[in-house]
Amino acid sequence: MNMHALQRETAGRLPAETEWLLEHIAQNRFLPQPPADSIFVGDGDYQAIGAEFLRHFVTLGGLRRSHRVLDVGSGIGRMAVPLTQYLHPERGSYEGFDPVLEGVLWCATTITQAYPRFRFQKLDVAHALYNPNGVVSGAKLSLPYADAAFDFSIMVSVATHLPAEELTRYVREISRVLAPSGKLFLTAFVLDEVARTAEGRDARLGFARDGEGPCWFANPEAPLAAVGFDDGFIDTLLRTCGFDIALKSLGHWRGVPADHYQDVFVAVKRGGQP
Ligand SMILES: C[S@@+](CC[C@H](N)C(=O)[O-])C[C@H]1O[C@@H](n2cnc3c(N)ncnc32)[C@H](O)[C@@H]1O
Repeated sequence: MNMHALQRETAGRLPAETEWLLEHIAQNRFLPQPPADSIFVGDGDYQAIGAEFLRHFVTLGGLRRSHRVLDVGSGIGRMAVPLTQYLHPERGSYEGFDPVLEGVLWCATTITQAYPRFRFQKLDVAHALYNPNGVVSGAKLSLPYADAAFDFSIMVSVATHLPAEELTRYVREISRVLAPSGKLFLTAFVLDEVARTAEGRDARLGFARDGEGPCWFANPEAPLAAVGFDDGFIDTLLRTCGFDIALKSLGHWRGVPADHYQDVFVAVKRGGQP
């Protein structure tokens, strides 16, 4: 099923009250936003992108209001702010972490103060662009959460900045901290045949393979500015780490029609009720 058909079908199946809530959140102009010059997570409309992803989490990922959410690379709250309006105030919860202190501080002072079930922490993971003085290697990181502590994990526009060994570690750790049947919603750049050859591909993303792969870098001088992966690499990684792939939906960065820019994987941790 192509992306448009899938989204139409799932959107059509949303209960009317969920549809109303998502629309209401997308239109709410009173949600907090960081000052424009402190938004370090990319261009675009902070609020519109957050609302767009909330809709994807619900329609593509099956996010429920009662879920315990883990946000890997929570940045400066772009995903968290709309989630405050969606997750159930007593049953839902949210944990986010990021290596950039400024983002964590903005989230902690703006979001946690009003929504104590939303918590943020800095993990001092080294990253050439985001946290060059970090002391922890992402490839060896143990996430500071108990086994099976979450129902839904998101990794939006983070795998697009990680080397393969770090992504591998994160997927393994996320599998550990998700409960059986828990979901991982992950975005990435997948270098499939179309992405490698399409003329309509985003001109900023002239990916070239790094050696034998699986990584592709768009900027050899700053390899982690935009990382892509061989088609199949993420699929195998997810399966090896105990997930089944419920959805792999290719994004319009490669110049084909889609309702989202980056590629989206929704993976379900095995071991739940069939
Ligand atoms: C493009 S931003 C996306 C942020 C957020 N997910 C969003 O969509 O708004 C990439 C984020 O990944 C974070 N990051 C970089 N290296 C990381 C690492 N090793 N582990 C977790 N997050 C990392 C950055 O600090 C930044 O907040």
